Amino acid sequence: MPFFTKQASLTWMFLCSVHPSLAFFKVPCSSPLVIEQVDPIVSPGVASNHVHTVLGGSGFGFTMDYNMTQTSQCSSCSAIQDKSNYWVAALYYQAQNGSFTQVPQNGGALIYYEQRPDPTTNGTIVAPPAGFRMIAGNPLDRSDKGTIETNARSFACLNYNAPGTPQTPNFPTTNCPDGLRAQVYFPSCWDGVNLDSSDHKSHVAYPTQEYDNGPCPATHPVRIISIFIEVNWHTEQFGDMWYGDQQPFVFSFGDPTGYGLHGDFANAINTCDDGGGDITKCEPITLQPDYVTDGCILERSIDEQVDGWLDALPGCNPVQPGPNDAQFMSGCGAPTEIGQPLHYYTDLTSSHQWEWIGCTQDNVGGVRILTGSSGDISDMTPAACVEQCIADGYTIAGVEDENQCFCGNSIPTKDMPTVTPMGNCLMPCAGDPLQNCGGYGFIGLYQKCDGSCSNLQYPVVPH
Ligand SMILES: *[C@@H]1O[C@H](CO)[C@@H](O)[C@H](O)[C@H]1NC(C)=O
Ligand SMILES: *[C@@H]1O[C@H](CO)[C@@H](O)[C@H](O)[C@H]1NC(C)=O
Ligand SMILES: *[C@@H]1O[C@H](CO)[C@@H](O)[C@H](O)[C@H]1NC(C)=O
Repeated sequence: MPFFTKQASLTWMFLCSVHPSLAFFKVPCSSPLVIEQVDPIVSPGVASNHVHTVLGGSGFGFTMDYNMTQTSQCSSCSAIQDKSNYWVAALYYQAQNGSFTQVPQNGGALIYYEQRPDPTTNGTIVAPPAGFRMIAGNPLDRSDKGTIETNARSFACLNYNAPGTPQTPNFPTTNCPDGLRAQVYFPSCWDGVNLDSSDHKSHVAYPTQEYDNGPCPATHPVRIISIFIEVNWHTEQFGDMWYGDQQPFVFSFGDPTGYGLHGDFANAINTCDDGGGDITKCEPITLQPDYVTDGCILERSIDEQVDGWLDALPGCNPVQPGPNDAQFMSGCGAPTEIGQPLHYYTDLTSSHQWEWIGCTQDNVGGVRILTGSSGDISDMTPAACVEQCIADGYTIAGVEDENQCFCGNSIPTKDMPTVTPMGNCLMPCAGDPLQNCGGYGFIGLYQKCDGSCSNLQYPVVPH
């Protein structure tokens, strides 16, 4: 089970200036939607080469098109109109004994949309059209190529108590007291025709002089809004675990240098439909609260462990330190098939004839959702709570905060579970850390089956 790190507090900012080159808005994304070997741009319909951390709308999957994005039931990013997805590789720490473990993210990501007109044209900036997608960076890079494209990705070593250190094209070589920030600037020049291309790059280009500003090349004359993403990781949690003379972090594709940093973008903003796509005609963006974005998660479907201590990186990703370009590997025996979704709830349909009905916010300090019996169970699991509720004569059981069990016979209508809180019900159970037992103030609900038994389905990664 993945354990998600919650961003403590996200603030939204919408800055708009009459001077178009200063206008930008930023969209905070909270905990990832899913961390999994999935990449519908590069590897549609199959397990992707390496593990990604994915943000954005829940209408995301191994195969996806624009229409699917519009079926999103929630998003891990806070702009309601933005059902887009953004993904970057997951980051791992490699211990001296060779084992790997995931570095938790500090929040999800921050996405900047910047309006930077081409100084040589009439200044029109076009919103990327529905279904537009692109990749920035190259996972095979292991050295600084010094091009505009490679300059567009960088790292910041975060230290809030000291003057900023220069950004680097590779992983910092000292511990960063406040963590590591990876930054990817996407191309902002488009050929004006193709939504995608076979390498997912040639339909777009960087401006000719700088990666983040200036004129577009004649081959890609249409200026689109500039997209910049920042992803932070808690590398400082491994601050006293450095060894040898190298930094210990490695991207999920076997990159211990950082030069292979890359990002993917699949557009699904649908509010800029003025025909010409002029970005200034887009509707203003509205926001949703943190608990909703935190709660938006998808279940994984590749049957390979991606967290905990791992002997090898998931997929076929031996560490390739360069400086020569890395090579894509396959045939190492890692699962490539898309399997059954790995549920975040415990399936009690055959063992107990009880079914999962979802996660919802409980009224801590007020009248609880379930008002029958309640108590703590030291070796708590969903089954243990259900058995307690059966013994007490109830038909609904709720697990909360690792070891609390609540029983009742009905749920107030206003408190019925919905899609989005699920990500808040991922606390490991006191009696089995591999099962989930609600969260602080969030209750995971099971009920006695009435006739047929079928767990309620929350967004899963569609095949
Ligand atoms: C997407 O939806 C539109 C409108 O419903 C439809 O016309 C179009 O054919 C769909 N595209 C795909 C690829 O399914
Ligand atoms: C490798 O080292 C890490 C960190 O010290 C430790 O937690 C892990 O259990 C070790 N793995 C093995 C296989 O020894
Ligand atoms: C100027 O902008 C308009 C859209 O506002 C566009 O249709 C037109 O082609 C642009 N002209 C040039 C020369 O780029």
